[in-house]
Amino acid sequence: MENIISLKNLRVGFDGKEVLKGISLDVKRGESLVIVGSSGCGKSVLLKTILGLIKPDEGDIYVFGERITVLPEKKLMEVRGKIGMVFQSSALFDSLSVWENVGFYHINHTGLTDEQIKTLGGEILKDVGMGDFADFLPEQLSGGMKKRVSVARALASKPEILFYDEPTTGLDPVTSESITKLIIEMHGKFKTTDITVTHDIKLASRISDRIALIENGAIEEIGPFEELREKSKNPIIRSFTENGG
Ligand SMILES: Nc1ncnc2c1ncn2[C@@H]1O[C@H](COP(=O)(O)OP(=O)(O)OP(=O)(O)O)[C@@H](O)[C@H]1O
Ligand SMILES: [Mg+2]
Repeated sequence: MENIISLKNLRVGFDGKEVLKGISLDVKRGESLVIVGSSGCGKSVLLKTILGLIKPDEGDIYVFGERITVLPEKKLMEVRGKIGMVFQSSALFDSLSVWENVGFYHINHTGLTDEQIKTLGGEILKDVGMGDFADFLPEQLSGGMKKRVSVARALASKPEILFYDEPTTGLDPVTSESITKLIIEMHGKFKTTDITVTHDIKLASRISDRIALIENGAIEEIGPFEELREKSKNPIIRSFTENGG
């Protein structure tokens, strides 16, 4: 299968301190990759670098075969348009209704009328189980509902790639479970390539084709959950298995 994302010896640092120290990774079309690693190891930095929001100091990034590290801004925006991002904080606009949040990309990037955007948003909201909440404001929603809206917004631009940054952090176990199911369902329905950063043991084991463990700025281990579960001596992976993952 074709590599949809390819990272080659990626190095990223801030103020002389190196965070990513040579990351090489291929993600295949349709794959669901989970990234784990201790707090501050550079997981979010990695996602932002693939999005082109942070420039690497060294190395290369290919997305859809395009070498995005050298792309002019306009072409980079096109590539970014095919990547949906679900932020940890949900990051909804407080003053906009649910459908306006979901249609944000279309309001800004297309000539569609409000009516068309609302119809389109309504369909995606149905997909994430939020069909009845189009006219609500974010403050009227629970954390799990906001997460669903945030997934709908990421899906609205029909992305080929979806990034989830800690999608279940801060949610209770029942809500986490429902978001886990949503991620699996959306992955099946829209055939996206997913990269999910998480500390959630259960989520990682359920959604991943492979898990990559980042340590000291590099990929320490990578493979299917079952394989890591058998072999790994790393405490993060051990805690996965010991908690029944
Ligand atoms: N824009 C920035 N400027 C300077 N330092 C940064 C910047 N963004 C991230 N860092 C630093 O890079 C390191 C990695 O941060 P990152 O947010 O990627 O961690 P993380 O693995 O996502 O952690 P967590 O699991 O807590 O979310 C941290 O030391 C952070 O302070
Ligand atoms: Mg992070």
